[in-house]
Order: sequence, then structure tokens, then C-alpha cells
Amino acid sequence: MNEAERNVRAIRGRLLSFLRAPHGAGDAQSYRYIEDGIVLIKDGRIEAAGPAAELMPRLSAAVTIEHHADALILPGFVDPHIHYPQTQVIASYGAQLLEWLEKYTFVEEQKFADPAHAARNAEFFLDELARNGTTTALAYCTAHPNSAAALFAAAHRRNAGMIAGNSLMDRNAPPGLLAPAATAIADSRDLIRRWHGTGRQRYAVTPRFAITSSDEQLAAAGALLNEFPTVLMQTHLAENRDEIDTVKRLFPRDASYTAVYARFGLLGPRSLFGHCIHLDDAELALLRDSRSVAVFCPTSNLFIGSGLFDYKRLAGAGIRIALATDVGGGTSYSMLRTAAEAYKVMQVQGQNLPALIAFDLITRGNAAALGLAGEIGTITPGAFADLVVLDVRATPAMAHRMAVARDLKAELFVLMTLGDDRAVRQTYIAGEPALRAKLQDDRAISRAGGST
Ligand code: GUN
Ligand code: ZN
Repeated sequence: MNEAERNVRAIRGRLLSFLRAPHGAGDAQSYRYIEDGIVLIKDGRIEAAGPAAELMPRLSAAVTIEHHADALILPGFVDPHIHYPQTQVIASYGAQLLEWLEKYTFVEEQKFADPAHAARNAEFFLDELARNGTTTALAYCTAHPNSAAALFAAAHRRNAGMIAGNSLMDRNAPPGLLAPAATAIADSRDLIRRWHGTGRQRYAVTPRFAITSSDEQLAAAGALLNEFPTVLMQTHLAENRDEIDTVKRLFPRDASYTAVYARFGLLGPRSLFGHCIHLDDAELALLRDSRSVAVFCPTSNLFIGSGLFDYKRLAGAGIRIALATDVGGGTSYSMLRTAAEAYKVMQVQGQNLPALIAFDLITRGNAAALGLAGEIGTITPGAFADLVVLDVRATPAMAHRMAVARDLKAELFVLMTLGDDRAVRQTYIAGEPALRAKLQDDRAISRAGGST
């Protein structure tokens, strides 16, 4: 094998990639599906993707083909709202948002003052994402700058594209989680210089939510966003009624919760707002006009008892929408489970979430929400070879039900409703298999020159 061939790999299976947001449940023009396809990968990026019959003759005999017969190969899932310091908060009993933060979350997050704890948890977090087929996440860290540094360093070693930021908090939380506005902004600036654009890592300015930041800190966050025109911004908005009442008390001169963020220059196309459940029409207009993203976190909203995201109302208002886990308020790392719960949240409001729209959201749609369209979330030449290989018959119940699924959209709906990490057969990050144990089991590795 020569040097050029060493960095080449081919993955064969059923390819599915979205071209644009589907207009409805059966919009067959919105995606490209290839029943027997090959993704050709070179130096971590997709070199070509197409029918095996066309690509096979072009492959040198030395190229390894990983044949995932009958599996669906999609772009790796994208999770646009998750908390990496909450892997030991997930599944904490019996509290709604403000009590849940005090009683469980702030307790666990203080442990990230210890760099060794942060490093261990960063590895666990990235392992768990890969096990669930998620290849990029927009992640909250704690207020300790070493927590963001630990996540970036671990992701960089894996060549995984993560977007993260240290939480800006200077009030209304335990002292161990607070940093004065000036210190926290200086830490953020240092992290941006060190990590934003290092390999695949990117930075997000992260004021946790209005309750835990002073005016001074929110203003500095807005200035930072302005200073670095390619960094993102993430925060929480209108998740819970008591939270909203507290924001009203803390910011009496602002017309609404959204207006607080608007006043500090935090709205815009690079800004993602978790939850957006209890918003008035004027707030929707602020989000729409600024091209901000509302992030729907169904398992979290149900688990913490926050309320129901009104997808139809926000989409109807022209607001960009993404779909996320919000672990550890959320109860699953799986974007399949998250899509299934989104479906149920919509059902109880008389709405539907077609499978095509759900799968577009968790791949291309979420990538676009992060400003990464074309880079990730798609199986097209030039994109990173971040892929998930899904076994649609991973469990007896799935196999049994799949036997009567009539077409691709029916199959996808069964996959999102019954599937989870058990359906993830392999995850590729920049072309490399991330699940080593599963690679050992793989019975179907062959060479282009041999029989497949
Ligand atoms: N609002 C402020 N912090 C958090 C958090 O960690 N999780 C959730 N769900 N909401 C928040
Ligand atoms: Zn959150």
C-alpha cells in the first residue's frame, strides 16, 4: 500500500443523507438514498459517495472496504445542547428546574474544579456520545476554565469536532461555581485563542442563563461575541415558570426574558437558546428577526417537568429550530430517543413529527443550526467523514416490527421510535471507527480486489 492509499477507506451500506429540510412526511426530494452505496474517505473527509456499482471499479485493490450489509449509514448525529459536567446528574429525582440546579447540578459541577475529574469526565462524555452515534455536540462546561480545556483537549486527540464554552456565572449559585465578570471573560478569551479553530474545535460564549449573570457579565458576553465573529453563543431561555418570574425580578426594566438577552447583544444567527417553552409573541419576533435558534430538548422538558415545546408555533413564526438531548436534565444521550420523545411532545399537542423531518433535524438541520452546513451532517464530498452506522434490526422488537415496514420512511419511524444506542453498529469520526470493540466483531471487512 502506498502513502496515498494508507489514508483511504471505503464504507459500504445503505446511504441516507438530507439535502434540505423536508417539506412534509413524504418529501422524497429532500434526501439522497442509495440502497447499495459506498462512502470513499480520504484524510478524514468524504472524497466521494455514490452507488457501489459506480465506485467499486475506481477503488484500488489495496483499499479496505468495511461492508455494513443491510445497515443504514447516516451522517453522525449532532447534539446542539448538552452539558458535559452532568454525566453524574442525569436521572436525579423529584425536582423542577431551580431546585434541581441547587440540589444536584451545582453540587456535581463544583467537582470540575479538579482537573483530573474534568479530564476523566470529558473522556466518558466523548465515549458516550460516540456510543450513541453523536459526532458533534455544542456543550456547556462549568465555570472552571480547566473544564472546557479538558473537553477540548480530549476531543482534539480524537479529531472530533466539539463546540464548547466555560459557563459564565457570577451570582445566584454556590461560590465554587462563580467567577467575577472580568475573570470569566478573560478566561473565555484565553480559551477562544487557544481552542477556537484548533483542529476541529470551536468556541461558544456561554452565559449559563440570565439568573446567574450580572448585567456586567451579560454585557461582557455580548462584547465578546462581537469581538469574535465566528464563535457561537449558547444559553437557556424560558424553560420554567419560576425561572421566568425570577428573571422578571432581577431585570425589572426589561419587557421579557428574551428582551434581557437582546439588550446585551446576545441574539443573532450564531446564538442557540435552549428550551424556549414559555414565550410571548413579541419574544418570538425577537428570535425570528435575529435569526436565533430555539433548541427543543424534549426528554429534559418532560423529565424536569418544564412544559411542552410548541414546535408548530415556533416554526410557524419562522424561527430556526434545533433538537437536542440536554443531558443531564435530559434522560438519554441518544438522538434517536430524543427524536422519539419529540414526537410524543408534539403528539400531545395535536402535532406530528414525520420521521424524515426528525432525521433531517438530528443530522443536517442541527449542523446548519451550528453554522456547520456542508462540514458535518451530510454525506457529500468535502464534508468530514463523521458517520453513524445503524442496525435497524438491533433488537428482537425492532426486527419483528421492521418485517412489516413498507418503505424507507416507515423504517425510519420504527428506528427512531424503538432505537437507541443498541442500534449503533459503528460511529466514524473523521473517517476513523470510534467504537473499537464493535470493529473487532465486524465480520465483513474485505478488500476492493476480493469478493464482498
Ligand atoms: N438552566 C440553567 N442551567 C441549566 C441546566 O444546567 N440545565 C437546564 N435544563 N436548564 C438550565
Ligand atoms: Zn441545558
